[in-house]
Amino acid sequence: MARPVLLLTRKLPAAIEARAARDYDAKLNTADEPWYRDGAEIARRATAAGAAGVLCAAGDPMNAATITALPATVKAIATFSVGFDHIDLAAAKARGIVVTNTPEVLSFATAECAFTLMLMAARRAGEGERMVRAHQWEGWAPTQLMGVTLEGKALGIAGFGRIGRELAAMARGFRMNIHYRDLHRAPPELEQGATFHDNDDSFLAAIDILSMHMPGGDATRKWLNAERLGRMRKGAIVINTGRGGSVDDAALVSALRSGHIRAAGLDVYDGEPRIHDGYFGLENVALLPHLGSATEETRDAMGHRALENLDAVLMHGRPAPHRVA
Ligand code: DGY
Repeated sequence: MARPVLLLTRKLPAAIEARAARDYDAKLNTADEPWYRDGAEIARRATAAGAAGVLCAAGDPMNAATITALPATVKAIATFSVGFDHIDLAAAKARGIVVTNTPEVLSFATAECAFTLMLMAARRAGEGERMVRAHQWEGWAPTQLMGVTLEGKALGIAGFGRIGRELAAMARGFRMNIHYRDLHRAPPELEQGATFHDNDDSFLAAIDILSMHMPGGDATRKWLNAERLGRMRKGAIVINTGRGGSVDDAALVSALRSGHIRAAGLDVYDGEPRIHDGYFGLENVALLPHLGSATEETRDAMGHRALENLDAVLMHGRPAPHRVA
C-alpha cells in the first residue's frame, strides 16, 4: 500500500525526520528553507505533493487563507508545538481537518527556561555577562551588580497549567511562595499549597515576580498592559515564556525604564522574530530567542508526539490522542 504523503514545513531533529521518512512519503525541508513563512506556498506544496498530512510548527501561518487553500487530500495538521494560536481551528473544522499539538512533553523544559530567565533577571546575569565579554570587568566589588534573591519571594504564575505547575515545583525548591491566577481553582493535589486568586487585582498586588504561561490569541492579547503593570509592586519582575502577544511591549518598556518594574526576562515576542526596539536599549531585560522547549530530549519527544498523532489519523484510522480540533 502506498505510504501517505506528509509535508514537513520545517527542518526537524534527525530522529524525527528519519521516522517520518520511514513511515511516510515524507516531503522534508532539510535545509529549513523559509518557504514555511508563506501560507500560499505551504498550500501550493501540499497540493503538488498530494499531502495527506502537514507537520507544521509554531509560527507557521496556518491561518484561514492557508487552510482554505489546502488540497482536499489533507486530513490532518500536526503542529510541532503545544501552542496552536497560529492555526485557525475554525477553518480546519470547517474543512474536516484534524488538528493536533504536543502537550506534556515540553512542560519541564519550558518551566526550566522560565526559571533561567527568573534567575537572569533577579541576579542581573545578562548584564554581568555583557560586562565580562566587553572586557569591562575590573574585579570584584562589594556593591557591583547587586540583584535580589528569589528565596522567600512571592512568585505569581499566570496560567496554572502543566508548565506553570512545573515552575511551581521548581520554585518550591528555592523556598518561594507560590500564587497563581487561572480561570478555575486547581484541586489540592495540583495546587500543593499555592494560593489561588480569582481576580487580577489581588494576584498582581500579592506578588514579587510574575511568570506568564497563558495561551496566545485574542483572549489574552496585551493582557499585561500599563494598567496591570501599575497594579504590580514597585520593583517586581516580569517573565514571559508563553506568547509574546500577551504583553503590551510599549507599556513594559516604559515600566522597565521608570524602574517600576525592576527587570524582565522574555523568551517570546509579539510578532517575533521582530522584537520591540525599546528592549534593546535596556540593561534590565534578559532576551532569549524562543528557547522554551529547545532541549534535544524535548524536541525529540515533541516530534514523536506529533508523529503519533499523524499515525493515528493517517495510518490507523483512529482518533488522534492530542486533538485540538
Ligand atoms: C510551543 O510549543 O508552543 C512553543 O512555543 C514552541 O516551542
